[in-house]
Amino acid sequence: MDITRLIQRIPKAELHLHIEGTLEPEMMMALARRNEIELPYSNVDEIRDAYDFSNLQSFLDVYYAGARVLREEQDFFELTRAYLERAAEDNVCHVEIFFDPQTHTERDIEFATVVDGIDRALRDGRSRLGITFRLIMCFLRHLSAEDAMATLEAALPFKDKIDAVGLDSSELGHPPSRFTEVFNRARDEGFLTVAHAGEEGPPAYIREALDLLNVERIDHGVRCLEDPDLVARLVEEQVPLTVCPLSNVKLCVFDSLEQHNLKQLLQHGLCVTVNSDDPSYFGGYIGENYRRTQEALELSEDDIYTLAKNAFVASFLGDTEKQRYISELDQAMTSP
Ligand code: HPA
Ligand code: ZN
Repeated sequence: MDITRLIQRIPKAELHLHIEGTLEPEMMMALARRNEIELPYSNVDEIRDAYDFSNLQSFLDVYYAGARVLREEQDFFELTRAYLERAAEDNVCHVEIFFDPQTHTERDIEFATVVDGIDRALRDGRSRLGITFRLIMCFLRHLSAEDAMATLEAALPFKDKIDAVGLDSSELGHPPSRFTEVFNRARDEGFLTVAHAGEEGPPAYIREALDLLNVERIDHGVRCLEDPDLVARLVEEQVPLTVCPLSNVKLCVFDSLEQHNLKQLLQHGLCVTVNSDDPSYFGGYIGENYRRTQEALELSEDDIYTLAKNAFVASFLGDTEKQRYISELDQAMTSP
């Protein structure tokens, strides 16, 4: 079968997606108008022109500025609904999405406004589109551990809506070790844990995320290849890496998609997955990430199967649901 068609038709899970990073320029303009917020752009072309990044920080500055248009519960609902509709077009059947409460609470938006809007859209997406979900709350690592702890405490009344905690934002200079106590508390409260590590930061940050934060998955993790002992451990423990190829190129982690190390990661036997990170800012949703990476690295059908299967294995679904999705994937691989 044509591999592009195969990529389109296989059921997919997305495990690394910042909901604020799905804010398309059209919605940014519309919400700015509705909420009477001044933007430094006068049209969508100017917004897109600003998406020319040299590193993670240059992106984060634009991304946090864009998120200012999100104010009401309905805004978070519409943002998440639009993402799910777009994901359904790529045959995504399961999502585990991040949100950054501190980006909003520091602008005096209530925690409940954010979580309730996202959760309402996730439940709506499950009933209308059949997309199952988990929700992951990320702490902004450029802020203090005390801020993160206060955010965790604010989240406790919403435990039934939040499955896991994560760690994102500016990586360099903000090692996982600073958040050990917060992650211990989160685990004691019953949350699963993940962390961004080894995107721009060194392999030592991946080790800290594993040893000190006890995470179930590493978000990005592409710099692990600089440390062979770490690679051996990640393979042995089958620690999932949620890799985001188009993001890595847009943020200059790799010079081009052809230079991306995803195929090497696969060849080492690592549990690699493909994800879109902040698709509105990085030029493609998950299908585009699969297609462009397949083309650039000449991935085989087997590689595509492994990537898609890994995402179900690495998900926070129960075993029965994982098996059901993997059976659907197997069928999509073989049926004419
Ligand atoms: N890295 C760190 N923080 C982020 C990212 C990312 O790729 N996207 C949104 N917040
Ligand atoms: Zn990310």
